[in-house]
Formats: sequence, C-alpha cells, structure tokens
Amino acid sequence: MQEKIKRLAQEAASDLVQIRRHLHRHPELSTQEVETGRYIQKKLSEWGIACTTGWSGTGVVGVIEGKNPSSRCVALRADMDALPIEEQTGLEFASQNKGVMHACGHDVHMACLLGAAKILQSLKDEWQGTVKLIFQPSEEDFRAGAPKMIEQGVLENPAPERIYALHVMPELECGRVGVKTGQYMASTDEIYIKARGKAGHGAMPEQCVDTVLMSAYILTSLQQVVSRNAPPYIPTVLSFGRIVGDGRTNIIPAEVNMEGTLRTFNEEWRAKAHDCIVRCAQGIAQSMGGSCEVYIDHGYPFVNNDAEAADLVRKVAGDMLGKEQVDELPPRMTAEDFAYYTQRIPGCMFRLGVKPPGLKEPSNLHTATLTIDENALCIGAEILAGLGASA
Ligand code: NI
Repeated sequence: MQEKIKRLAQEAASDLVQIRRHLHRHPELSTQEVETGRYIQKKLSEWGIACTTGWSGTGVVGVIEGKNPSSRCVALRADMDALPIEEQTGLEFASQNKGVMHACGHDVHMACLLGAAKILQSLKDEWQGTVKLIFQPSEEDFRAGAPKMIEQGVLENPAPERIYALHVMPELECGRVGVKTGQYMASTDEIYIKARGKAGHGAMPEQCVDTVLMSAYILTSLQQVVSRNAPPYIPTVLSFGRIVGDGRTNIIPAEVNMEGTLRTFNEEWRAKAHDCIVRCAQGIAQSMGGSCEVYIDHGYPFVNNDAEAADLVRKVAGDMLGKEQVDELPPRMTAEDFAYYTQRIPGCMFRLGVKPPGLKEPSNLHTATLTIDENALCIGAEILAGLGASA
C-alpha cells in the first residue's frame, strides 16, 4: 500500500505544483474564500469525489468510501484562508490579489489534502473505511472556522474517530516531518484594556488622573500574572503589543488603550488568568483614582495531540521518509483552531518541513517573503493519504 501511495504521489507531483500555484496566486481572506472553495469543489468533482459545500460559508467537505465504509472514519483537514499581507517574494506565481497573501502555507495544506484525496480515491478498493476531507475556511478568524463547522455537524454523519492535519514549518528542512504528543499549541485570548482617568495639562497633574502612568503600572503589574500566579508547570505567555495614549508632551489623555495576548495550556488556569488580569488592572486603576475596562476575546483552546494518533503519524511518516526524518518537536505558544477538533475527538497536527535545502535564513510564517520547497507537496500528500488509508 505504502509503495502504491508513494508512486501515485510521484505521478501527481506536477499537478500538485500547479494546484498549489493556482491557490497561491489567488489568495482570499478569512470568510471570503469563495473562489478557493469553488476550485476545491471542481477538483474533487473531476476525480469523482462526492462533496458538500456551504460549510461555514465557503468550506467544502468531501467523502471517500473505501471497503466496508461503515467500519471506521478518519478525517483529514486543511485550512483555506490567506492573510492581509502584501507579498514580496517576487515569484512568478505571486499573489494577484493586492494586499492578500498565502503567508501561512494554507495553499500548501490544501494542495496536499487534494493530492491525498486523489490518491485515496484511486486506491479506494484497497483500504478500509471512510475518509472525510475537511477543507475549512477562516482558520485565522476566532469564530468562523473550526468552531462553526463543528456546530454545523462536520464531526457527524459519518462521525470521524480521528482527525489529522499538517502545517508547514519553514525552519524544518523539506523531507522532514515534526511531531509532538500531547499539548502542542497554546490556547489564545486577546486582551483589551482601556484605562480611564481625567485629561488635562501635563503641567497641572494635580488636576488630572494620569492614564499614561496608570497604563505603565498596569502593564508592569500584569507581568506577575505569569511570574506569580501561573502554575510554573503550565507554560504561559502574556504579551502586550499595542499601547495607545493619544496625548502630547504636555497633554495627559483621558484614556489609554492596551492590547495583548494570553497563551497557555490548561483551561482551568486560563479562566483563572482572565480573573487575575481583570482584578490586577482594575485594582491599579482604582488605586490611582481612575477606572479600567477589560475586554477578553476568547480564542482557540490548546491543541492536544492524541498519543495514538501522534504515534501513527510517526509510523506513517517514518515508513514513507525513513525514521531518521521524523523529529520530536517542543510545544509552541502559537495557536491553531485545529484545537477545537482535538478537544472533541482524538487527533494530531504535525509539521511538514518546507525549507529548501541549503537556505540559511528561511522567512517566518506570516511574513511577506515566505517561500517553500514545492517538493514538500508530494510528501504532505503521501503522508495524509497514508494516514487516511491506515486501519
Ligand atoms: Ni496557519
């Protein structure tokens, strides 16, 4: 089976490059993946794969039945959306949608899943069960992607027992794969703090409630949420990336806004951390004679890679590429809405190496200069197909 999958992946290699380049050229932002959805649907239909559309707006779900289709069901998921970034790669197939770019590799994820679909369809008399292909929009949007599709029943009829997805890793050499069992990617919440005081002349602080100083104290004190309140054995990050106090050298503004992100790996502590942040910020604002509003936008839970699912990724990738090509990864504080699936059913997100050999300083995800080694397309497709075909 493994040999057949490899051979079919090789045969599909140039198609996959074309597919990926088409998707790369025509990126669409979260919730707007209309043409992307149509393209996927067209490809699946061309290969005779039944699919339904309209999932969370633009999502597409394909179903391939092997032998004894009701014996088991495995889901494979790819995300579809691009980012609001102006591409600067200079590639011949660079984005034609101004200000929009597939800078997180979702074009690669879709091409790999389409490749796997094609392979599994050609071999459908040779593997057991059903494979569900989930093309999911809006991964970068807190509400519109995975949670929406789950709400619409993507994990039912048929109900997958397991789910897998890959994500490109620009710093990992093409030909390698990375896996981590257990807690892999962090939960994420956006924190918005508005400190209110009394505006006035900088020369007359006694008549003001100084919101700039208040914000300085708030940001400094919030550091203790991680250093003093977080259980030391649960990785936690609290970072602020935006602070806006629109006064002048001699004008104290009426309000200062701060924006940050909280990431961690435990739901109980996550809820507690929200309380700590609110209490700390409000306490300081009040002690200085002001007030403070805290708004927390709840994002994804953490990605939990099931031990058996992760072991199967190691096995399939090891068989395809050689055991020495499979790396054990540390956890990451970045987030993924694939987390929602792994909170419902066992699953595993693994990493696909896409770094061209010899490239010293690969560009990061979410940058305008991200490029990938297209040889990874074939590899991603064969591992996904292998996972779909493994009983
Ligand atoms: Ni991504």
